[in-house]
Amino acid sequence: MSDADDANAGGGESGPAGRGSPGRFITFEGPEGAGKTTVMRAVAQRLRDGGRAVVETREPGGTRAGERVRAVLLDQDSGGLQPTAEALLFGAARAELVAQIIRPALANGCVVLCDRYTDSTLAYQGNGRGLDLDALRAMNAFATGGLEPDRTVLFDVDVQEGLRRRHAEGGAITRLDAESVAFHERVAAGYRALAAAEPGRWRVVDAGLAVDDVVEAAWGVVRIAING
Ligand code: TYD
Repeated sequence: MSDADDANAGGGESGPAGRGSPGRFITFEGPEGAGKTTVMRAVAQRLRDGGRAVVETREPGGTRAGERVRAVLLDQDSGGLQPTAEALLFGAARAELVAQIIRPALANGCVVLCDRYTDSTLAYQGNGRGLDLDALRAMNAFATGGLEPDRTVLFDVDVQEGLRRRHAEGGAITRLDAESVAFHERVAAGYRALAAAEPGRWRVVDAGLAVDDVVEAAWGVVRIAING
């Protein structure tokens, strides 16, 4: 999501109200440069074209306070932030997002598409930083009141290729982007382990393909998740 979109980061709801449709919560996860943000936008558009009410949002951020926490987390000036403090800040932004945006949207029958959620904390702060995974799971449950996604799409991309894309995009390189390749390799391995451990919730998409093909693959996953 570009800076220009920040004003809408709370998630623009569009299309008809979700009357009569059950809410669905779908999260998009993956290492840096996997292209999930672009793909999520395309999937949201297809859902709207099909008449669904959609809320797009992202982590960290998506609320006024959450976007301010995001700035602290991603700013390279926050170097030296303690891993536990980092995890709790992600959790704080998440608690805001769940209470203010996600739960109300689901209650209204919307499809909520969220660019990163609890699994990012497990992969980045758990596998990447080495924090205890059970402690992070407890923090996630505290922050979200136990709200779990109906479906999670993993955008699996080669770490070096993802970092190359991220740098080629020309946008700001965040504090997390600037971590070592070894860190990002641990994150990617963490994601694969999460997906393997919970195959009912996760679907893996090959994000090394051309964008149009990744959109098709992700659309297939989301369509089935919504229509059964
Ligand atoms: P962003 O620029 O939105 O990255 P991306 O486009 O790859 O999603 O920055 C979010 C960064 O925060 C990203 O490096 C992943 C990291 N992150 C965590 O480390 N833990 C978390 O719980 C979340 C939600 C994100």
